[in-house]
Amino acid sequence: MNELTKAINNHLSCEFQSGHTYLAMSIWLREKDLAGFSAYMQNKSQEERGHADRLMAYLVDCDEQVELPSIEAPQRSWESTQALFDQVYEMEQAVTASINRIYSIAEQAGERSATAMLDWFVAEQLQEEAEARFVRKRLRLASDNSAALLLLDQQFLDGTALIAVKTSPDGLRK
Ligand SMILES: [Fe+2]
Ligand SMILES: [Fe+2]
Repeated sequence: MNELTKAINNHLSCEFQSGHTYLAMSIWLREKDLAGFSAYMQNKSQEERGHADRLMAYLVDCDEQVELPSIEAPQRSWESTQALFDQVYEMEQAVTASINRIYSIAEQAGERSATAMLDWFVAEQLQEEAEARFVRKRLRLASDNSAALLLLDQQFLDGTALIAVKTSPDGLRK
């Protein structure tokens, strides 16, 4: 297995693991009756699975081997919604760092098909980090005010919570 294939396979665990963590977050938020935040996390969980699907399809298309990772049981509870989003932000930063590492390996190997495939992920991570940073800041502003928290939750239900950060060109997402 070449270095690039190994790196992509290693990265699969990042995507599966974060998808699993988002699912756990979605459950915890639902238990707290924060239905909007919960739905957002459930959607993010599915997106992560989609990211893994993209990478697996790439490996198969290149006639390279896919090695599915084992997934650890994620954390099940958080101190607050704020603490949960702090973790989202850190997790996305780690995923970005991993994508950047693979990108460097692909560049060094002169694998144009890989860098072309990874360009989508670079744009996606920019969006993911921007979203996480935005929500984190909004939660800091809401602080301990439950009316403000419920308003944010409602905005997630209405689909308006992230309008200010949805700036990526059409077609980059999904
Ligand atoms: Fe991802
Ligand atoms: Fe992500």
